[in-house]
Amino acid sequence: MNKRHVIELSPSGKTFEAGDELLLGAMLASGLAVPFSCRRGACGSCKVVVAEGAYRAKRLAPGAPAPSYPLAANEMLLCQSHACGDMRLRIPGWSLDTPALVVAAQVHSKRALGPDVIELVL
Ligand code: FES
Repeated sequence: MNKRHVIELSPSGKTFEAGDELLLGAMLASGLAVPFSCRRGACGSCKVVVAEGAYRAKRLAPGAPAPSYPLAANEMLLCQSHACGDMRLRIPGWSLDTPALVVAAQVHSKRALGPDVIELVL
């Protein structure tokens, strides 16, 4: 059975559960708004400070590039990490109490920039 860990976000005190999945996916699945962009360890949008707890890095596929975003010793990327137990995290410069910005728009154009990147003009 997939053991679930409790991840607390400070200072809000909000929590979510995570098992073997990546922490970013677990947090999004719980309905919490979290900053992210590339999901491959390059942009740093999902960087958090680890206040307590242990984690392990995502296992890379053979030949896959290692995450390139530079991190301090107490930081990790939610998109590249799995919890190993209960944790307490802090997201610098981000408030979970800020409601998501919702904007109505129409797609004006769509263009493939690469195999996994699409440019949308709204
Ligand atoms: S989403 Fe870009 S580094 Fe995690």
